[in-house]
Amino acid sequence: MDRLETIAEVRQYVRAERIARRAVAFVPTMGALHEGHGSCVAAARALGDVVIVSIFVNPAQFGPREDLSKYPRPLEKDLALCGAWGVDAVFVPDAAEIYRVDQDVWVEADRLSKPLCGRARPGHFRGVATVVLKLLNIVQPDTAVFGQKDAQQAVVIREMVEQLDVPVQLVLSPTVRENDGLAMSSRNAYLALDERARAPWIYRSLVRGKELVSKGERDPSRVAGEIRRQMEAHGIAAVEYVELVDARDLSTPRRVEGKVLIAAAARVGTTRLIDNVVLDVREDGTVEETMLF
Ligand code: PAF
Repeated sequence: MDRLETIAEVRQYVRAERIARRAVAFVPTMGALHEGHGSCVAAARALGDVVIVSIFVNPAQFGPREDLSKYPRPLEKDLALCGAWGVDAVFVPDAAEIYRVDQDVWVEADRLSKPLCGRARPGHFRGVATVVLKLLNIVQPDTAVFGQKDAQQAVVIREMVEQLDVPVQLVLSPTVRENDGLAMSSRNAYLALDERARAPWIYRSLVRGKELVSKGERDPSRVAGEIRRQMEAHGIAAVEYVELVDARDLSTPRRVEGKVLIAAAARVGTTRLIDNVVLDVREDGTVEETMLF
């Protein structure tokens, strides 16, 4: 596995792959890798001849009071995992390589960055979109794979690629869960034992919401209210939001119909966790879990 640290090294590596007519698939990450990333790599492997993973904890997507300095950075373990997953090259730049000047040009998703996580994390999606565009411009992959767990991020990136004509095929990989339903996340490592025991109730409560919709409930606020009640009843006291939004544009629907994203964010102890389910609610009344895109 090749280890690339500079933009010039990545460009040289990718140029050689292109000359050899090999399709490049890319998985951007912030490291602290887990099986969720592993399934993104597997999806990338199925789509490309060569798989590149970036590991970069992007300062621009952390707010001033967020966990940038304590964000886990187990680089050697991450490199070993990438090796075991059959990754061909890892790009591990430092912040000075990615942000060579005081950044003045940003990618801003005006509407999509406002709801859901955008309320508590102003500037977050600007940081995400900007670094993802930078990484896509550096690697210039044929395909890039992201996880559905970060649903709002996925929608922002999809629109960025679409609206800014970025020549890449986006692929979404399903959320990977622990046996008890907790969505895999690098931040799960922060959870104390009792918090880890309560954390799966975020997903279990979302499943309760899905069951309500399957039984015919079409009032978004009733579904959200029940999910919140379930979470609070099981020790998830600091619920930041539970919302049902249109999965295409994150607008608030009057009724639960079509493709609906049910998203939640909550603090378990001091750790902020997010999760979601995406439902396809059809006119004939059938309801199925589905992918955002
Ligand atoms: O999802 C993540 O790990 C990050 O937000 C990403 C897409 C790598 C950008 O820093």
